[in-house]
Amino acid sequence: MIAITGATGHLGRATIQALLGKVPASEIVAVVRDPQKAASTLPQGVTVRIGDYHDPAALFAAFQGVETAVLISSSELEYEARKREHENVIDAARQAGVRRLVYTSVVNPSPDSPFSASPSHFATEEYLRASGLAYTMLRNTLYLDIVPMLVGEGTLPSGQLYSSAGDGRVSFGLRAEMGEILANVLSTEGHENQTYDLAPAPAYSFQDLAATLGEVTGQPVAYVPVSGEDIAAAMRQHQVPEPFINLLLGMNQAMKNGEFNAASPTFEQLLGRRPTDLKTYLAGVYGK
Ligand SMILES: NC(=O)c1ccc[n+]([C@@H]2O[C@H](COP(=O)([O-])OP(=O)(O)OC[C@H]3O[C@@H](n4cnc5c(N)ncnc54)[C@H](OP(=O)(O)O)[C@@H]3O)[C@@H](O)[C@H]2O)c1
Repeated sequence: MIAITGATGHLGRATIQALLGKVPASEIVAVVRDPQKAASTLPQGVTVRIGDYHDPAALFAAFQGVETAVLISSSELEYEARKREHENVIDAARQAGVRRLVYTSVVNPSPDSPFSASPSHFATEEYLRASGLAYTMLRNTLYLDIVPMLVGEGTLPSGQLYSSAGDGRVSFGLRAEMGEILANVLSTEGHENQTYDLAPAPAYSFQDLAATLGEVTGQPVAYVPVSGEDIAAAMRQHQVPEPFINLLLGMNQAMKNGEFNAASPTFEQLLGRRPTDLKTYLAGVYGK
């Protein structure tokens, strides 16, 4: 059996949807923390088991009879708590006799990254490699799906796209396609102890992002590079919560540093077709 944690989240649901075309539903275990959410979001026929990342005993029970498990990284932001949650999942999987664990990491994980999720991804990868489990690291780049959040509500009316990401280039991947890749990695051979950068080519600058937005909307958009302090001040004026400001500033700094400039052919190879590009995605969201 194949277990997927975080199964009621966006990536978990996309993975299960794609996996259903490849293995029988009876082989799929959705590990969730909220059974009501599972009942309303997951397809029929999939086995649902409860497993909060804080609850080692529940995770141990959820992994019984499972050969391969996917650990979808937690939405927790605080480093120690997030790292502990991931370690709980890895420990429970090992104790329950799981053979291989597939982990959704990040491109260029580093203990020194300004992107707040990166140090815990680095630590989790180290912990998993030392666990004795067979592993597959899927180092995901930023989702194309977060571009509207990066663009912000004010951009289109004003014709100006503000960011503190400087000239940094970013490879963006569609989350649903990352789910398909996960399903492919779970249902085919040869991925044991492999580390894959899931970052489709090309990588785009914010200049490219502004130009592409202009193309799909028919309204010119100019990129205006600003400092992190300016972005933070503007967000505070709109009462944006401090943890979110910190997350965005750190992500922008990591983009500026080139941490997401990680395009590799692996995404396309594992997907089995050309990935969705920025223009196609933005046309779907903003096109007329
Ligand atoms: N690459 C990127 O651009 C990007 C962007 C955002 C996030 N991420 C990372 O990628 C992960 C998956 O992305 P996503 O879009 O699927 O995020 P998501 O929709 O927020 O899903 C996160 C999943 O983790 C589950 N979860 C969180 N804390 C848990 C806990 N203590 N115990 C058990 N389950 C827990 C959530 O459960 P519920 O369904 O009950 O809430 C949810 O199912 C995120 O969690 C985050 O680490 C990456």
